[in-house]
Amino acid sequence: MKIVSSVAAMQRLALKWRRAGTRVALVPTMGYLHDGHLSLVKRARQAVGQAGLVVASIYINPTQFGPKEDLAKYPRDLPRDTQLCQTAGVDVLFTPDNAEMYPGKAEGAYSTFVVEESLAQGMEGASRPTHFCGVTTVVAKLFNLVLPEVAVFGQKDYQQAAVLQRMTEDLNFPIKLIIAPTLRADDGLALSSRNQYLNAEERAQATILFHALEASKLAVKSKPVAAARLKADLQEFLTAAPLARLDYLEFFDPLTLQPVSKVQRGHQMALAVFFGKTRLIDNARL
Ligand code: PAF
Repeated sequence: MKIVSSVAAMQRLALKWRRAGTRVALVPTMGYLHDGHLSLVKRARQAVGQAGLVVASIYINPTQFGPKEDLAKYPRDLPRDTQLCQTAGVDVLFTPDNAEMYPGKAEGAYSTFVVEESLAQGMEGASRPTHFCGVTTVVAKLFNLVLPEVAVFGQKDYQQAAVLQRMTEDLNFPIKLIIAPTLRADDGLALSSRNQYLNAEERAQATILFHALEASKLAVKSKPVAAARLKADLQEFLTAAPLARLDYLEFFDPLTLQPVSKVQRGHQMALAVFFGKTRLIDNARL
């Protein structure tokens, strides 16, 4: 496995691959890798085959964190991540730093951002107003640096996947996005690098997100239910986890992400819940 940390070297390599007609898949991550990330690497390999190249990027992108969020303490373990990527069959690990990705930003010498104005509005966009601008900007930059034909993202960040799909279409990136299913712990908790912030009590109660999704599936299985009613029922349901503080809970059309007033099978549900300062998200197709 080759490790590349400069933007210039990454772009030189990518151009060389393109001239040679090599197929390239990109798995963008912020590191602290878990099995969910490794399943994305596997999916990337399937997409480009053994003759193709899988590039994973590890970059904790500061522009997608709000001023009061966990940028400074976001978990990091590059030696372990490097080992995991190597074992998972990653060909190139791209690990740029802030000076490479946003040169001169503090002095105002970096000033271009990508904004998706529709799908990024509600849910995560409402709770974290600057988040998606940071995500679309960094992913657009990674697309230009790695020049992949495929990029793989996780379904756990449902709205992120939708925003990135729209960005890819709107800005005509010749890249196919693959959205891979969420991996879960045995008790249903979606795998996330942020799970490691949870203490034992919070970790035990964190399965409430998964159970809320399952309860909602059941509730709309045979007939549609008013969203207001279902939300009220779920708020009651969440009291079973006294450490949980609901941030948002939404039922929406899976393509437009527009909220629905009557919830039925085939609609999407997403929620965000705080445990102390830790914010967890999850979603499911009902
Ligand atoms: O999903 C993530 O880990 C990040 O938002 C991404 C896509 C790597 C961009 O920084």
